Amino acid sequence: METVILQPNKENLYKCAAHLKSGGLVAFPTETVYALGAVATNAAAVEKVFDVKKRSHDKPLIVAVAKKSDIATVARNIPDKARALIDAFMPGALTLLLDRAENIPDAVTAGGDTVAVRIPDNETAKTLIELTGAPVVVPSANISEKTSPTLASHVYDDLNGKISYILDGGASEIGIESTIIDTRCDPPEILRGGGVTADMIERVIGKVKFKRESVCGGNYMPLAEVFFSAYYDGMTQNICARYDELAKHGRKTAVICLDGNAAYYGERKLYRVGKSYSDYAHNLFAALRKADAEHVDAVIAEGVVSEGIGLSLINRLCKISRGNII
Ligand code: TXA
Ligand code: MG
Repeated sequence: METVILQPNKENLYKCAAHLKSGGLVAFPTETVYALGAVATNAAAVEKVFDVKKRSHDKPLIVAVAKKSDIATVARNIPDKARALIDAFMPGALTLLLDRAENIPDAVTAGGDTVAVRIPDNETAKTLIELTGAPVVVPSANISEKTSPTLASHVYDDLNGKISYILDGGASEIGIESTIIDTRCDPPEILRGGGVTADMIERVIGKVKFKRESVCGGNYMPLAEVFFSAYYDGMTQNICARYDELAKHGRKTAVICLDGNAAYYGERKLYRVGKSYSDYAHNLFAALRKADAEHVDAVIAEGVVSEGIGLSLINRLCKISRGNII
């Protein structure tokens, strides 16, 4: 199968919607990361997503709809706190765990009673879903265990030859996945930190907690060994020392750093991820993919303050570094 990267013009959006309707898969941009879409109510199409991603069947898929009123077509019993979050953050980088409606097949929910629902804040994604006229599953468009794609070319690298179409929407604005929250319990539980932060959520519905076992959730495994630094005074000196130690042992090493810290690392190899924590989130996965493409053996990622989007970064980097904290 040949994989074609398409511009998201009207003709191509119709072509991709028709492909989805006929049970095919299409990768497309969202504001968090690129999605691998299939019609959520078509169990055979959903099955192909698991095949293509090499994803284990016990891991459910998020379902996307194009507008708020469509949430009721995939979920039942929407709690008041979920309604408040829908009003505040949808469309956006928030996924709600809700009771599933009957039309959502077991393949999507891994046999469970809940469905995770979101509305992407991206015109291409919304138009495609609308033209398809059905809810669409939106897992990240990478092979399982690899870093989520934030560019059409990342999707191509992973899925070339396995799907027909990739819609190219440029770089994903946010760059890390959506926050997943379950408001059916009290206090509501964040299963995965992401684009919408816990403080943003607490301003709307009050206290929430992080589900314990998912503090380091996610599934993004670069080939390079990743070290994640704690955040403290003197962090950059310690990173330099670790870098030099690794380099001495012949390992091609790089630091993922904010622009403002670049000068501390002198001539060492850097992947600069921008000025702010949002930039860091936006560019992290691309930096890790670049490290793999450049055959870097070891990556040291700078630490961040544990608040706001920093918490979501810590969540990702704990997992990516397999707890290799320095
Ligand atoms: O930002 C995002 O959410 C991206 C974009 C493309 O939509 N999608 C994404 O999907 O990150 P994926 O499949 O890579 O990660 C979805 C996570 C998985 O950890 C999965 O186990 C969890 O959501 N999940 C999905 N449905 C669930 C459910 N019903 N109950 C519990 N966890 C669920
Ligand atoms: Mg994923």
